[in-house]
Amino acid sequence: MPERIKIGYVGLGRYLPENILTNARLEQIVDTSDEWIVQRTGIRTRRIMGPGESLESMAVAAAKSAIENAGIDARRISVVRIGVNTHMRFPSLSSLVQEALGIPDASAADISAGCSSFIFSVEEIFNRLNFEWMAFGKKSYGLAVGTEGMSIVTDYSDRSTCVLFGDGAGAAVIGPVASGEILATYTRTQGKYAGLLELDKFMHVPLTDQREMRFQRLEVTNYPYLRMEGPKVFAVAVRTMVSDVRMVIERYNRANGQQLTEADIDYVYPHQANLRIVRAVGEALKLTPDKVYSDGVKNYGNTSAASIPIGYIDNLGKHRGNTEVDVAFGAGFASGAILRKVAE
Ligand code: ACO
Repeated sequence: MPERIKIGYVGLGRYLPENILTNARLEQIVDTSDEWIVQRTGIRTRRIMGPGESLESMAVAAAKSAIENAGIDARRISVVRIGVNTHMRFPSLSSLVQEALGIPDASAADISAGCSSFIFSVEEIFNRLNFEWMAFGKKSYGLAVGTEGMSIVTDYSDRSTCVLFGDGAGAAVIGPVASGEILATYTRTQGKYAGLLELDKFMHVPLTDQREMRFQRLEVTNYPYLRMEGPKVFAVAVRTMVSDVRMVIERYNRANGQQLTEADIDYVYPHQANLRIVRAVGEALKLTPDKVYSDGVKNYGNTSAASIPIGYIDNLGKHRGNTEVDVAFGAGFASGAILRKVAE
């Protein structure tokens, strides 16, 4: 069996729509105020897809930028995973992106794990690349994308949700590295909280007429929008993310005989749902605000699966040698964390 190799990010990219949705504009749409939004969420602007932009175009643009940044031929990518919740159709977004990038035989599939979908994508690629190396001695590359068109599923007459979300995409090419390796990953799902954050209910509606094979779907709901119990989500989110950071550190220590602690973490990218959640996670981990990424939530709102890889680009080249953690939670409740080094 070959020696283990280091696998990490070799290239990063993102795409943000041109169109900026400000708090002032939301004041014209629903009964809200800039003051309320900033105080309760920290969000000042979000990007919203406009004509000519789509989930596919954003994912392709972010991926192209990551591949260019990695300096590799796209045909060397053997696995593509796209974290996305708002595609809601087939064929998978991954198959469309794979074709657009010209990487015909890669294993390409979407992952739907709420706002943690990018973390789940990275974990799957990391495990697969490790397996390909250990089992076949093959050094391969993977492409993880987080992309989301939250504006598609947002009800712009519901002030309790429409101020929160934005669109965008981020991507990472993952492969063999000299430094800047992924140290450990951890993911989990707590289905007991699934009802706190949902999109529509048509999946739950049973066949009403077995003979005619008719569905009741349109009579039951015509509300294809995200709904959530915000304050309950808030409480579970903080608890879950803090515990997942501890779990990923513990997994790394147990697998490698190390004694890393929270004090060794230089920087954290928490899912950018709400500035108060981001701050609460930082405080629980005893990290000063400069060690906790928060520009994403202020500038782009909650971009769900895209929020962490979008954030990487804001710090590109600034954190050499850091030990960092990405941590996310979302619908499901699916959550998880990645512990990694940044390249020297
Ligand atoms: N403008 C003004 N007032 C508002 C607005 C608004 N946009 N939205 C709600 N309010 C009002 C409410 O009606 C309520 O009024 P009332 O007291 O008269 O009833 C009051 O503000 C307080 O409402 P709360 O919901 O208790 O406010 P809270 O401080 O909890 O903030 C928020 C709400 C921002 C949604 C918060 O709970 C939150 O961020 N929760 C987490 C959400 C989240 O992270 N979701 C993850 C999604 S992840 C995914 O997978 C998509």
